[in-house]
Amino acid sequence: MELQGRTAIITGATGGIGRCIAQELAKAGVQLTLVARSAEKLQSVLEEVKSFGAQAITFSGDIRYSDVAESVARLTCERFGAIDILVNSAFWGPPASIENTTEEFWDQTLDTTLKAAFLFARAVTPFMKKQNYGRIVNIGSLAGKVGEDNRTAYCAAKWGLEGLTAALDVELKKYNIHVHLISPAATNTPWWREVPATLTEQVLERMIPPEAIAQAVRWVLSLPDMVHVPDLPMYNFLNPFEGKSSPFEGI
Ligand SMILES: NC(=O)c1ccc[n+]([C@@H]2O[C@H](COP(=O)([O-])OP(=O)(O)OC[C@H]3O[C@@H](n4cnc5c(N)ncnc54)[C@H](OP(=O)(O)O)[C@@H]3O)[C@@H](O)[C@H]2O)c1
Repeated sequence: MELQGRTAIITGATGGIGRCIAQELAKAGVQLTLVARSAEKLQSVLEEVKSFGAQAITFSGDIRYSDVAESVARLTCERFGAIDILVNSAFWGPPASIENTTEEFWDQTLDTTLKAAFLFARAVTPFMKKQNYGRIVNIGSLAGKVGEDNRTAYCAAKWGLEGLTAALDVELKKYNIHVHLISPAATNTPWWREVPATLTEQVLERMIPPEAIAQAVRWVLSLPDMVHVPDLPMYNFLNPFEGKSSPFEGI
């Protein structure tokens, strides 16, 4: 589809990948609603996307709550007159062993990474149905296709996101709403600087650049209506972790 003049909501728009998606869609002429908790980081991304000539607004809020998703949808429609695209990129999920996965930790991982995607999809669906048009892109992970060491809650959330995507794809197809999953392997974002693992420059260089995920999002969204990409896995060409699925063994 032609992206110029379309409107998109991006959750996690201040993150390593979400920020690149915001920039890429801004360059394509998409009007943006940028969502995350940190107002300060949102302001910085807002200035970046405006420098590409994009119209954009920010919404600072906690996406785990339905009133936030509904307010974002309503405000986006009031400001731009439509909601054409939703990109669910936000997540929360540090590594933890099963013994260290408290109920609170489990809930925060599942609520941010899976439930929020459901809440935002539910909030935008009435607008997209009315338009008989819409695109939802869920940023999954290869951790939604295989198990990873010390990532119980995160893997569960990402496998759940696969199921959510598949179900919505069937349910919303009749309203000309495409639902896509893009499932990257390790991607070089600031998140990796905060994890309890020592990563060499070579490890980071082997990761996917976040700009490549953003380009994939733009490509998927640009396809003609009669083409559908339900699931796009993106692998590391060379395994950054020396044959292991992740660097989180024994933490
Ligand atoms: N990096 C990788 O290696 C990798 C690999 C595969 C898949 N992915 C997926 O790619 C996506 C983006 O990852 P990333 O590395 O770019 O993440 P990131 O840099 O950690 O960014 C996370 C984003 O989510 C937002 N967020 C977290 N909790 C929130 C909440 N409760 N309410 C609202 N916003 C919240 C953060 O903003 P605030 O903190 O300001 O709220 C931030 O914008 C995720 O879905 C992730 O699972 C990443």
